[in-house]
Amino acid sequence: MQITPLLCLFAGLIASGVATSCPESDGSTLETNLGSFHIQCGADRPGGDMTNSPAWTSSFDDCIYLCDHDDMCRGALWDPNNGGACYLKSELETAVYNPNIWAAINPLWDCPTYNGTRHEIGIDSYYTIECYQDHIGGDMPGSPVWTPTFQACMEACERNSGCIDVSWIPPTGTGNGVCYMKNELNTAIVNSAVWGARRWSVCPDQDGQPWEDGCGAWYQVECFTDRFGGVMAPSPITTASFEGCVYWCGQYPDCVDISWEQGYPTGTCWLKSSVGEASRNMGVYGARQISPYFILRQSYRHDKV
Ligand SMILES: *[C@@H]1O[C@H](CO)[C@@H](O)[C@H](O)[C@H]1NC(C)=O
Repeated sequence: MQITPLLCLFAGLIASGVATSCPESDGSTLETNLGSFHIQCGADRPGGDMTNSPAWTSSFDDCIYLCDHDDMCRGALWDPNNGGACYLKSELETAVYNPNIWAAINPLWDCPTYNGTRHEIGIDSYYTIECYQDHIGGDMPGSPVWTPTFQACMEACERNSGCIDVSWIPPTGTGNGVCYMKNELNTAIVNSAVWGARRWSVCPDQDGQPWEDGCGAWYQVECFTDRFGGVMAPSPITTASFEGCVYWCGQYPDCVDISWEQGYPTGTCWLKSSVGEASRNMGVYGARQISPYFILRQSYRHDKV
């Protein structure tokens, strides 16, 4: 019998599918994985072009994507009438009205303006900005690293499994700032030279909590726990989140456990048909099924046979 994946609604992986455009999107905020862009129709910004600008893209969203994935980019300006020229800006000069330009502005997450706000970096992790708060000590091996932006410091933390907090010292002038990554949260002291950000994610924050797979089955989150054996097809699968990995498990009736090797921007998802012996692994977010949804699955399979 062929097992057909169950079709369950999983909002987390479904893009809205609505293209960003002018004038419809004017004044709105577009949340991306890495930042948030303010849409400003007709706001041209002469000057401040990056060396790889202009690029040429077939849509405004593609232009925004290029900017979103470049740490130095603060603005994506698209001209649909000029062959899809995509102007990428590292500096935002004063806006000048130009009806042909569709602009998306990514404000710097700076202190003190963005104090207390949250920024998504991974799909199920975000960082809360704590201006001038330095949690002293707790530095991880390999820390510090040098990064051009505060965002890049949070991304470095995201790539470093076990990191829960950063302290970034912005550069004076151009160049890189110093990014301290921490795996312990000690008492904070006020330090006007430091921009801090605290990470929230499934691990360690949801350790031991129940988690639903989008299909009605429940799992218990087991942070930093890998369970041996039972690896089943089609894993390993590349997923951008723990959430996505549990979702895949929900698609296969035989799946009862997962191990997600945390990574940024993607990690590796292992599906397991058995709950093996646990071992500690700081790079793994695990989940063990505690309540399968047999009734739905059996009736579904019955329909299909
Ligand atoms: C940042 O926000 C926190 C909590 O809202 C507040 O306690 C702190 O004083 C703020 N810091 C600055 C520099 O505004």
